[in-house]
Amino acid sequence: MEDYIELAVEMIRKGYDDRKIRSKLPREKADEIIEIARARIKARDKFSRTDLWMDMDGLRYATHEVVAKYRAQRVKPKSIADVSCGIGIQLIFFAKYAREAYAIDIDERKLFYAEKNAEKYGVYEKIRFIHGDSLNREVIEQVDADVIFSDPARPPEMPERRLEDLLPSPLKVYEAYRHKTDAFIFDLPPQIRREKIPWKGEFEYIDLFGALNRLTFYFEPLAKAERSAVLLPAKARLESNPDLENIIEWREPLEYIYEIPQAIDYADLINELFHKVNGTLYMLLREKRRVLATSSEKIKSEYFKRAYILTGITKFHPLRINDFLRKNDYGRATLRVSIADNAYWSFRRKIENGLKGEKRAFVFQYRDKAIITEAIGD
Ligand SMILES: C[S@@+](CC[C@H](N)C(=O)[O-])C[C@H]1O[C@@H](n2cnc3c(N)ncnc32)[C@H](O)[C@@H]1O
Repeated sequence: MEDYIELAVEMIRKGYDDRKIRSKLPREKADEIIEIARARIKARDKFSRTDLWMDMDGLRYATHEVVAKYRAQRVKPKSIADVSCGIGIQLIFFAKYAREAYAIDIDERKLFYAEKNAEKYGVYEKIRFIHGDSLNREVIEQVDADVIFSDPARPPEMPERRLEDLLPSPLKVYEAYRHKTDAFIFDLPPQIRREKIPWKGEFEYIDLFGALNRLTFYFEPLAKAERSAVLLPAKARLESNPDLENIIEWREPLEYIYEIPQAIDYADLINELFHKVNGTLYMLLREKRRVLATSSEKIKSEYFKRAYILTGITKFHPLRINDFLRKNDYGRATLRVSIADNAYWSFRRKIENGLKGEKRAFVFQYRDKAIITEAIGD
């Protein structure tokens, strides 16, 4: 099977048509082989290995390897059970540190892929694989672990993010395993309201390559703070500190603009960030997709998503922006504004119309004004 998957990857990459690909594969396994091959191609940099076993669904929900590694290094469990392991990526990284681990999934194929992947990463021997519903008594009885982890499946059409809707529900996992341990770790939808979580522990918001990726909830025995944000792959970590004086103030745009990672905003750690950096920051803008701070000082910090220098302010109108960019020698402009995807390109075409310069501008919207900037370090 392994050789066939590799062959399929090669043929897809070369652009062979489906009939030709299938003609080279065993008929009864062709669908699965092709799906695994497509998933391997699509996975690109999600994993350090290119020979993993997964279907498209498994790939989509798999923990990114950088996140899996970070959490494993943080927890270093002696023994752990992943009660919804999927294709196994998170558990495999936990298992690197553990003496023993349990991999449970209700989907037999996913569990089979988890086994294959554990072999590839060299941790197969440490893991006990259990196919079944992790809320089922026979499954529960087989588990003896210090830590229970779950990254549950999320039904796509959840109207409101609620624990009850996750599969398996963390509420039920807790009830089922609480007689075994008090150390649980749950992956939760980052949008969930913290008040909805009925336990004490730490909410850790993970940012991966500049985008909010995960919310992990650690029960009290594993918690380090009430709330935290971690920026990966840099591993910059910020923790809540209720003793800090509130120094958040709002200002009009100053000379420098700093983009704050969403994870820091979601974790409500802007005040902590303002205390942490070497310089005085002010809030400028807080939107769903963008949080900006401003300062008259050039501040270097691993906590910023990006830093910009202000080069001009004009009316937020495509012709006015275009006029400014043309006069100031810009060749390209990237819009960092909240407009619908379909309007983005038409707006961008208008502001880039006739630009001949060398420089690249980043354009933000602030009330009815356009803030024109250049990225620092580009
Ligand atoms: C989001 S995926 C886990 C992905 C995993 N963290 C990884 O790195 O690949 C959730 C998994 O939960 C499994 N699942 C859902 N309900 C379950 C249950 N009651 N018992 C065991 N597994 C369950 C699904 O089959 C799915 O594979």
